[in-house]
Amino acid sequence: MLIKTRDSGFIHPVSSEITSQGMYQQRRDMIKLMAGGAAGAALAGWAGREALAQGVGKPGKLAALPGAKSGVAGAVTMEKVTDYKDSTTYNNFYEFGTDKADPAKNAHTLVTKPWTVAVEGLVKQPKTWAIEDLIKLSAQEERIYRLRCVEGWSMVIPWVGYSLAELIKKVEPLGNAKYVEFITQADPKTMPFVGSRVLDWPYVEALRMDEAMNPLTLLTFGMYGEVLPNQSGAPVRLVVPWKYGFKSGKSIVKIRFTDKEPRTAWNKAAANEYGFYSNVNPDVDHPRWSQATERRIGEDGLFAKKRKTLMFNGYEAQVGQLYAGMDLKKNF
Ligand code: MTE
Repeated sequence: MLIKTRDSGFIHPVSSEITSQGMYQQRRDMIKLMAGGAAGAALAGWAGREALAQGVGKPGKLAALPGAKSGVAGAVTMEKVTDYKDSTTYNNFYEFGTDKADPAKNAHTLVTKPWTVAVEGLVKQPKTWAIEDLIKLSAQEERIYRLRCVEGWSMVIPWVGYSLAELIKKVEPLGNAKYVEFITQADPKTMPFVGSRVLDWPYVEALRMDEAMNPLTLLTFGMYGEVLPNQSGAPVRLVVPWKYGFKSGKSIVKIRFTDKEPRTAWNKAAANEYGFYSNVNPDVDHPRWSQATERRIGEDGLFAKKRKTLMFNGYEAQVGQLYAGMDLKKNF
């Protein structure tokens, strides 16, 4: 992002985080039981199990959150899932520091219980949701999405959640609601970098209403068949797979419906570099670097050939029509 980071590679998990063979088997048995228990839900946690079968490597210390295979078009990619160890130790979560290794080191101070999400603004049913009720609002699904960061790296992650549209329908937006704003936690007591001036806190992101309603937009509570670890945005975050990763706000506390385009954290920091839309687009360069290629975390060595970045991160069939007729160079 704006800050130059030392692209220092990955930190190794501490020994307590390495899953013993016994625990690994226990976890697999537990997931099997849970999947078998719910009638017809044999697919529950399917990608999480697949990921484990691939030897993706899990700490196994978080609560299970399995989801049934998603039927949403484009919600699954057959690409290799990024190792849990890699996707949870190479993160951007500036509330915990600007180095990629900082969130995994520092986010243990985040307090996720109790947690509420206030839904407010231009809706018929404003309400403050306890996280437990929000989790139960709709059936959990597992979606395997590519996540492309504006900095030029990408991952493939099995997320667990449900389409944000489910919540939006429930709260009944008013006719003049045009945008949805996502306000995230900004607590200097539990988030050490919220005292810094790196960004104007809280970290805020927003979508146009039709983007928020697109079934691919995932209200996310888990990954790899477990609840989110703190550094990945516990207890609830957004995942918008066709946009650069920074549009996916972590640790959300407020969802607000508005009639005006909200100012977002990175747009406020550098409007010429981070536009409102921020759709993944290999043809529109960042002012300081190309967006044509990407490095897949954990797979590609430093000297390996980079991958070509796909238009809308490969989700063009699902979301291209949202931008029909728009000049994507201007609306970057
Ligand atoms: N959300 C908050 N609250 N704070 C942040 O710094 N960083 C964003 C986004 N959401 C960020 C955030 C950026 S730049 C990216 S690339 C993704 O989270 C990273 O998500 P990941 O850790 O799951 O890879």
